[in-house]
Amino acid sequence: MTRPSFRFPDGFHWGAATSAYQIEGSPLADGAGPSIWQRFAHTPGMMSNGDTGDVACDHYRRYKDDVQLMKALGLQGYRFSINWARVLPEGTGRVNAKGLDFYSRLVDELLENGIAPNVTLFHWDLPAALDDRGGWLNRDSAHWFADYAEVMFKALDDRVPRWATLNEPWVVTDGGYLHGALAPGHRNKYEAPIAAHNLMRASGAGIQAYRAHGKHEIGVVFNIEPKYPHSDSAEDLAATRRAHAYMNQQFADPALLGSYPPELKEIFGDAWPDFPADDFKLTHQKVDFVGINYYTRAVVKHDPQAYPLKAVPVRQPNQTYTETGWEVFEQGLTDTLTGFRDRYGDIPLYITENGSAFYDPPVAENGVLDDPLRTNYLRKHLKAVHKAIEAGVNLKGYYAWSLMDNLEWSLGFSKRFGLYHVDFATQQRTPKATAKLYAQVIESNGSVLDE
Ligand code: BGC
Repeated sequence: MTRPSFRFPDGFHWGAATSAYQIEGSPLADGAGPSIWQRFAHTPGMMSNGDTGDVACDHYRRYKDDVQLMKALGLQGYRFSINWARVLPEGTGRVNAKGLDFYSRLVDELLENGIAPNVTLFHWDLPAALDDRGGWLNRDSAHWFADYAEVMFKALDDRVPRWATLNEPWVVTDGGYLHGALAPGHRNKYEAPIAAHNLMRASGAGIQAYRAHGKHEIGVVFNIEPKYPHSDSAEDLAATRRAHAYMNQQFADPALLGSYPPELKEIFGDAWPDFPADDFKLTHQKVDFVGINYYTRAVVKHDPQAYPLKAVPVRQPNQTYTETGWEVFEQGLTDTLTGFRDRYGDIPLYITENGSAFYDPPVAENGVLDDPLRTNYLRKHLKAVHKAIEAGVNLKGYYAWSLMDNLEWSLGFSKRFGLYHVDFATQQRTPKATAKLYAQVIESNGSVLDE
């Protein structure tokens, strides 16, 4: 019998992902402290349509039902994040037992249903009390994070096989400290590199804490968006290198190589600090895996007006764009995986997020929701993942973004990435056609993609 062409390696891990502020709701319940996202969302003008995470998917109360949705898909793994301020309302010190208990119950529920938890410690919702002390601009943030991580490891590592320190630190600094579209909403070129550096010091300190208190695997999750030059001109090639260094290497390099790419100094100019050499001993820790979040690529052109990169993305004619304005470009996922392996070596990798927002029609009376554009995106990207494995990339698993429609940060509920549709008025969940395809992919370990 010949092996079906899109069958994945035995043991390939299939999951779906979410994050705390995007789905949980009840952000202040049971003694939780506010996070920066709680504050940001309640600041007039920051969120599309005035949406907030006050209710979101009400997962904090409906988590048992949601685990059944995962089971119905046949998920082997579920990636979620901890709201730090539920566990440590002031960010440091006192532990809120009820907050910790929520995550402990969630982990038990997953395990009882045969689903492996994959826990992200920081998916953007910094405790507001720590922001009041300077947040990621304060060098102490590395120690705050390591102390919080230790609390979590001691409570859950007996049951959690896979951890990540941070999710997408680039988004935190670009959106939160440079351009201000995301919490904490700063617009300051002098702050962004400092916040970035402290995030990677925190990740390193968290990994060190794991070596002392944990027994399984820990890694870190980066968003990678490959950059392709608009033309062969020297200016466009240099712009592409800057864009790549800024987004794709600014965090992975200090974590995996112990240094920064030289382009960052060029980009930030006098805002780029001379970081103490010793810091790189902390940022550069051995990881058990790296998680890569992939959504799209950018074709890059030199533009002297564009701040701070002097580079702009160029829209591609005749290509499909998602509702978040991202080009559907699956070859970029293959290139990301092979490129990452070529630069950083043979580290085990996971795709920890991949997905698309498209307009969804209302749920039909027969309960069916066809989402052909999203289904097409999933199909194409899984084939691209398979191609990378054939090219020898050590890829261990794939998590779809997202289990269900949720709060797309400052874009509110307007962008739907879910495998399950959520009616936010009734909290009714309905599987989309993409969920059905994904269940078949999992069941057949990819063979269904041959059809
Ligand atoms: C984040 C998610 C987000 C998704 C879609 C990633 O940047 O980790 O929280 O919802 O992309 O924008």
